[in-house]
Amino acid sequence: MGIISKDFSSDNVKIAIEILGKLSHLGNDGTGLAAVNKKLEIQVKKVPREFSKFNAILDGFLELELNPIIGEIRFATHGRPSLENTPPLSDCKETIFVVMEGVIKDYASKKENLLDKHHVFNSRNDAELIAHVIEEELQSNKDLEKVLLNTANYLDGSYASIIISSSFPHLISIIVNNSKLYIGRNGEGDTYYVASELDAISKYISEYMILNRAIALIAPDKLKIKSLDGKKIDVNFRNINLFSEHRIPGGYRFYMEREIYESPLALRKAMIVHQKQYLELISRMILGAEKIYLIGAGTSYHAALLGGYILRELAGISANVIDSTEFPYYALKDVTPGTVIIALSQSGKSTDIIRAISKAKMYGASIVGILNQLGSPLMYASNLYLPIGVGLEHAVPATKSFLGQLLALYKITFKTAEMNNTIPKEKIREFQDMMHALPALIEETLSIVAARIEEIAKELYERNSMYVSSRGLNFPIALEGALKIKEVSYIHAEGVEAGMLRHGPKAVISEGFPVIAVMPYERDAREDTYSLIREIKDLGADVTIITDTGDMIADKLSDKVIKIPKVDKLFTPFLNVIPLQLLALHLGILRKTPIDAPRGLSKYVVL
Ligand code: F6R
Repeated sequence: MGIISKDFSSDNVKIAIEILGKLSHLGNDGTGLAAVNKKLEIQVKKVPREFSKFNAILDGFLELELNPIIGEIRFATHGRPSLENTPPLSDCKETIFVVMEGVIKDYASKKENLLDKHHVFNSRNDAELIAHVIEEELQSNKDLEKVLLNTANYLDGSYASIIISSSFPHLISIIVNNSKLYIGRNGEGDTYYVASELDAISKYISEYMILNRAIALIAPDKLKIKSLDGKKIDVNFRNINLFSEHRIPGGYRFYMEREIYESPLALRKAMIVHQKQYLELISRMILGAEKIYLIGAGTSYHAALLGGYILRELAGISANVIDSTEFPYYALKDVTPGTVIIALSQSGKSTDIIRAISKAKMYGASIVGILNQLGSPLMYASNLYLPIGVGLEHAVPATKSFLGQLLALYKITFKTAEMNNTIPKEKIREFQDMMHALPALIEETLSIVAARIEEIAKELYERNSMYVSSRGLNFPIALEGALKIKEVSYIHAEGVEAGMLRHGPKAVISEGFPVIAVMPYERDAREDTYSLIREIKDLGADVTIITDTGDMIADKLSDKVIKIPKVDKLFTPFLNVIPLQLLALHLGILRKTPIDAPRGLSKYVVL
């Protein structure tokens, strides 16, 4: 966030803290402010981790007259939650301070280039790059507008940043690169408020505009905006009169809903969060391992299961997939110093997973952690870790983090397949291109399935029990769909391997029993699933089919058919899970359950 007003004012700090409080649902890994004082020096306050500790360090700061001011509440993706990684971050001379939401691409190589030019970095936070690139640019270019444009074009990624400098103390600069930043101004037009969420500043402004790919210079009496190719963008403010602050920022009813709808953006950021060198090191560990385990609990276990399928199919690696709760009883005795355990956990805190890896380490195992929360016990217990970088997940039912876990596993698999020469390089490149198209495809899926899912939810919400079934690569998605339905709607839902339906579960099926069939993409499994659907329909099953737009048969088998866009089989799990997450959400809404906080559950299970 940032504020710039006509005059120095002690209100600015108070308002900045209030705005940060409204952004605190986005992160809790560190909070900081930087502001220009009356002597035109920059003053900084920051605290790592909990936002609640921020007020305690503000002694005297609240009374200062400061203008402009920038601030951030951080979600860590690069660099653990610590004081040195807490924003605002600065250049070598501490004249330029930056806050940023998002991720910069190729952090490591960009940093290397600047280190070669003798820049000194104080953090491992990618946002610091912006300050150093601006510092570097300013050495040969005094035109700030050009400096910002050059910086934006050099630093690719998905981020929004706000910058102040003691060399330009009367303005704030902005760079938005494939992201979103709101600029608002008050009724008098003498104060500008900038934030990554409109809800955070709506109280103070009468009009606003959104920047997606632009640079801006804001002084109280002038605003200049340019697109990243240097063309002038017209200043075009929209009225905010009708806007009232939402309970859940963005106007969603539940965090789960917000997290489902924001997963395309989360994935866009997650796509560039992984640093190449770590992906490579993880693949080396996998290829050098005698034995590999993939472990996790709940949703993370389902991601692990899918990881097992793709590692085997693409990289020729057979990993043992075991849920972390069972691992100590089933697998521990087989662990040797040549064992690599890939441990998945959104929170990085689940006792089950920490216990499993602690024991495995005693038997000599090496640990690769895949986690969302940097600074968590799993991160510290891992030899190598990979952040999934999807942002803070509030709702207890995991949604966007599942997609982020899959993405991390796919990237590890592509790298391992490349290093293991199991698929041609061109094919991997083709897969990577398809992977980059996923956020847009998820957006498309959301828009084409949402209305029909709501209708289907209305038909199913009074049932007490259902099956979610699939085979092959999409079997973990059936398990995940069933888990979501249980958690969110309290309807008993069981994920059943389609072939296994015939081995017992079929006995439960009678007139009206709901079965959600996620069509498999393995050819024989698909044929067999059509037959199976016919079989269970004869028993009276109420079948909903999730398939793609290329399926000509599904409509003949059921009037409840959900169609996702057609993609390569490999990427169908990313799209198939979306209608299931939405179904769980709408079943829960209709059954009036506490969607974001199901009874008896918490965001992480710590025993
Ligand atoms: C499902 C869910 C839980 C978690 C499980 C593991 O929606 O939230 O099943 O997936 O408790 O949590 P993490 O991944 O934090 O270890």
